Amino acid sequence: MSHIARFKAEPFPLEMHKVRVVQKLNLLPVEERLKSIQEAGNNTFLLKNRDVFLDMLTDSGTNAMSDNQVAAMSIADDAYAGSETFFRLEKTLQDFFGMPFFLPAHQGRACEHIIAKTLVKKGSVVPMNFHFTTTKAHIMECGGRVVECYLDEAVISKGTNPFKGDMNMKKLSAIIKEVGVENVPFVRIELGTNLIGGQPISLRSIKEVSELCHKNDLILVIDASLMADNLFFIKTREAEAKDMSIKDIVLEIGKAADIVYFSARKLGCARGGGIMTSRKDLFDTMKVLVPLYEGFLTYGGMSVREMEALRIGIGETLDIDMISQGPEFIEAFGQMLLKEEIPVITPFGGLGLHLDARQFIPHVKSEEYPAGALTAAIYIASGCRGMERGTISETRNPDGSEHPADMELVRLALPRRVFTLSQITFIADRLAWLYKNRDLIGGLTFVEEPKVMRFFIGRLEEKGNWEEKLRDKFIEDFGIDAI
Ligand SMILES: Cc1ncc(COP(=O)(O)O)c(C=O)c1O
Repeated sequence: MSHIARFKAEPFPLEMHKVRVVQKLNLLPVEERLKSIQEAGNNTFLLKNRDVFLDMLTDSGTNAMSDNQVAAMSIADDAYAGSETFFRLEKTLQDFFGMPFFLPAHQGRACEHIIAKTLVKKGSVVPMNFHFTTTKAHIMECGGRVVECYLDEAVISKGTNPFKGDMNMKKLSAIIKEVGVENVPFVRIELGTNLIGGQPISLRSIKEVSELCHKNDLILVIDASLMADNLFFIKTREAEAKDMSIKDIVLEIGKAADIVYFSARKLGCARGGGIMTSRKDLFDTMKVLVPLYEGFLTYGGMSVREMEALRIGIGETLDIDMISQGPEFIEAFGQMLLKEEIPVITPFGGLGLHLDARQFIPHVKSEEYPAGALTAAIYIASGCRGMERGTISETRNPDGSEHPADMELVRLALPRRVFTLSQITFIADRLAWLYKNRDLIGGLTFVEEPKVMRFFIGRLEEKGNWEEKLRDKFIEDFGIDAI
């Protein structure tokens, strides 16, 4: 926390919480790490958690809950219909976003399913600052397509723009004009743009998009899954928001949108999801889909215990100590890597630390999946599980050719309140070793490739035997008994 005085120490992030429940971790020997990643088809989604040392795959459903969240779970009111828990959560969300209507869903992509099913039809075009994997898949499933309207700086890894997630208004206006408002079912803003390094969008840009949408009678949908980090960045990076309370910033975001949805696995540190809207007509059309796909209207597939935890977690999002923890740890982690000249995405965003795989291993071509290969190499070097966010996370072109991602990123997620600074120091140290030995890393090729969202369950193998060479170098440098 920046307002905490320090006498001699260099700036460092300070946890404003203490750890009261712990889970033992395993760090397998390098030989077993190699075996595990190969058995998992070089896909870190397919690793067993017991084989993982630091699980930096995602922040989704893996954030640490507070004592108050756990306590609230014990007062959950179990009822299929009309549970008190639902009404408590509904009231919290209405006050939080300043929006009157709430629909529960089992997670973020379920909200996307309902929104897409309600609004998208064949030929629809949905402009957005950047896509997210599940969002795009649902829009495409309904016959629509996504057009990204991002700033040029958004996909440059070493940037200076504090809000790389801002909407490119020129591109947005142009695409609306080109396809016609009648073919744009909604415009989507993603807070804390996931796939370009957790980069925030400014409140100024949100308001600009809202104005344009409402002038053209277009619906504005805001994905607030990564809102916690984005709020911190608005508060600390945007001059106009400096004196606003976090609550006021959230209310301004709610006011700008027609629909806000979120994954409660991220926002609120629980497990679930929700759609908020200020429009009764949209609420009425969407609500009929909730019992069909999710569960009755008063739980939507969530357990009532998680709903209580979410209620408290949403309230905690207004606490600067809570929302600063992730971004400040990511910054500290990033500074350690910058000292080693390791290519990372800057300015540092939320959600996790993002490595630029194209620069880390420039000798690996996009068709050999550099981000996937680097993710596998990091696991071999450290037992830490990151996530590929590059070409493997894309979908092939309709003609079957590869669609190289704008950015080849490896995400090392920092679930909120989970890791300590010494664990971050450990992974930074292993990354420094790996960077020194980066020439050993080679490419990957698919051996099993699902058609939809292949990154989840696809399997790949190494090209050549670079993984064995990496293991041998580890043993050579650290000794046969080192783990
Ligand atoms: C920005 C964004 N939107 C939507 C989702 C989907 O949420 P869920 O994983 O709960 O389905 C995610 C998940 O990572 C996300 O980051």
